[in-house]
Amino acid sequence: MQIARTIPELREILGDARRTAFVPTMGNLHEGHLSLVKTARTLGDVSVASIFVNRLQFLPHEDFDTYPRTWDSDCDKLQSAGCDVLFAPDEKALYPEPQTCKVHPDPRIADTLEGEFRPGFFIGVCTVVMKLFACVQPRVAVFGKKDYQQLMMIRHMVRQFALPIEVVGAETSRAEDGLALSSRNGYLDKQERIQASQLSATLRSVAQAVRDGERDFAAIEARATMALAARGWKPDYVALRRQSDLQAPTSGDALVVLAAARLGNTRLIDNLEIEQ
Ligand code: PAF
Repeated sequence: MQIARTIPELREILGDARRTAFVPTMGNLHEGHLSLVKTARTLGDVSVASIFVNRLQFLPHEDFDTYPRTWDSDCDKLQSAGCDVLFAPDEKALYPEPQTCKVHPDPRIADTLEGEFRPGFFIGVCTVVMKLFACVQPRVAVFGKKDYQQLMMIRHMVRQFALPIEVVGAETSRAEDGLALSSRNGYLDKQERIQASQLSATLRSVAQAVRDGERDFAAIEARATMALAARGWKPDYVALRRQSDLQAPTSGDALVVLAAARLGNTRLIDNLEIEQ
């Protein structure tokens, strides 16, 4: 695996690579990331992963400073997953001057759910992803469905700017008890880790209620939110939305249920597409 620390180094390594498949990450890699890299390898001639903890997508009170930086083990994992190129710029290399030119995604998607609880988050995500796309110039980019709203936002951005990039959404990797793999799972203590599977179980119970024919979505959401709260979670939302644009569903729409909740000091998100 070749490692580029700057944009010129990356361009030198990639040269005239024809079909680059790209997986952007913030590091602290787990099996979920590695499965994205393995998918990327099947989709391009050259696989590129990036590691960059993007200050622009963190609110001042969030965990930018403490976000785990695990360089050596990340490199080992990418190497063993068969990644060809790792792009790992520091802040000076990616943002040599303050990044005042930013991508403002469509507020109908960006200001709901995660955007409501983390204002400006998707401006930070879209801006860095646009910049990483400009550096890597991939033909394919692979994102996990665990960040469902992020994936939708990136697809929309790519479509609106006519970027010549195929965006591929990969299924969420889960632990045996159903917990969606996430870098932030490492913040959970032993007891919280046991409890954490309650989030995906809650999503499954919402999906079951819908499949059973319940149509009072507000009541289903409220019940799920209360069930989490009764077990010591602090839910931000449990929301049934339509898969196509994350707006409130009308009858016949394909649905997804999304949730974000805090367990102790750790905020987890998850979602489940509902097959009917
Ligand atoms: O999903 C993530 O890890 C980040 O939001 C991303 C896409 C790498 C942008 O910083």
